[in-house]
Amino acid sequence: MQHVTLGGLDVARIGLGAMGMSHAYTGAGSDDAESVRTLHRALEQGVTLIDTAEVYGPYTNEELVGRALKGRRDQVVLATKFGLISHSGRQGGTDSSPASIRTAVEGSLTRLGTDRIDLYYQHRVDPGTPIEDTVGALAELVAEGKIRHIGLSEAGPDTIRRAHAVHPVTAVQSEYSLFTRDPEARVLPVLRELNIGFVPFSPLGRGFLTGAIRSTDQFDPDDFRAGNPRFAEENFRHNLRLADEVAAVADRIGATPAQVALAWLLAQGDDIAPIPGTRRVARVEENCAADSVRLTDEQLAQLTALPPAAGDTHSEAQMGMMER
Ligand SMILES: NC(=O)c1ccc[n+]([C@@H]2O[C@H](COP(=O)([O-])OP(=O)(O)OC[C@H]3O[C@@H](n4cnc5c(N)ncnc54)[C@H](OP(=O)(O)O)[C@@H]3O)[C@@H](O)[C@H]2O)c1
Repeated sequence: MQHVTLGGLDVARIGLGAMGMSHAYTGAGSDDAESVRTLHRALEQGVTLIDTAEVYGPYTNEELVGRALKGRRDQVVLATKFGLISHSGRQGGTDSSPASIRTAVEGSLTRLGTDRIDLYYQHRVDPGTPIEDTVGALAELVAEGKIRHIGLSEAGPDTIRRAHAVHPVTAVQSEYSLFTRDPEARVLPVLRELNIGFVPFSPLGRGFLTGAIRSTDQFDPDDFRAGNPRFAEENFRHNLRLADEVAAVADRIGATPAQVALAWLLAQGDDIAPIPGTRRVARVEENCAADSVRLTDEQLAQLTALPPAAGDTHSEAQMGMMER
């Protein structure tokens, strides 16, 4: 697997998102043994960047990742996130206060069975805490050796600049794929100016771009996608055309749609490391093989010209927490 550098942090350019093993999607948490095999297979395929968060489960996803990485810790660039659970007594929403972070980091270290987190992200910008205070607390954790690098998720240009002025930010993680192009306009240019890496989350459009999702009836009622505007009936039908275009390119080059969706992302820069999520061994093998899929300029242009997906990526309340 080829490697890239995210703001000074070396990672294999395809990572693995562990969220769906415990959280958000149909089947989450139903087969931990296969999830652990998937994590192990990812490392065998050369993956280094493993992504989890305190809120996934909550807590159970970090525990699962910690169990799977026992004896393999040094092979991994381990990323987790804080800030969507309050440890300082706030009700609901975000909490990136220094007091909450201090408690959060100890919990994550324990559940992950490690003495250091390689990349520690703020999960969402906290309107109740100046970003300078949050990054100041994170800089102390860097000095103490509890975390190695600082990241932000779904942060806008102004927050990124303010954070980076306090302590270098290594990576920003936001949704980016042929399904969600928002970071291109305002965020990516700032990251490039400041030499900060970018980690696209949901790079397969939450599974949509793989072609495996053909009907909204496929989701369990507690699947995040069942209530997501992009997957609502009228938008869903429009968005199927996007998935079909990706599949058509895949057919022409003998790759799978998931591989084409990842190859398009990888072609956007050598400062980008997507973290496709899967809880299945066969799919992690398929997704990692995107490392060797090359798209021609014409294929890239055809994909880049696809219309935006219809419908917001999140509910109105969640969209309010994202800076774009
Ligand atoms: N920072 C944030 O706020 C945030 C938000 C969302 C996600 N994330 C991170 O990003 C990671 C990836 O995002 P995501 O899981 O939301 O979305 P994704 O990677 O776009 O898609 C995951 C979905 O696609 C399916 N899938 C994966 N590979 C496939 C393949 N080759 N063929 C067919 N289906 C396939 C998975 O099902 P199976 O599991 O059944 O294979 C799962 O339902 C997460 O795990 C998480 O770590 C971060």
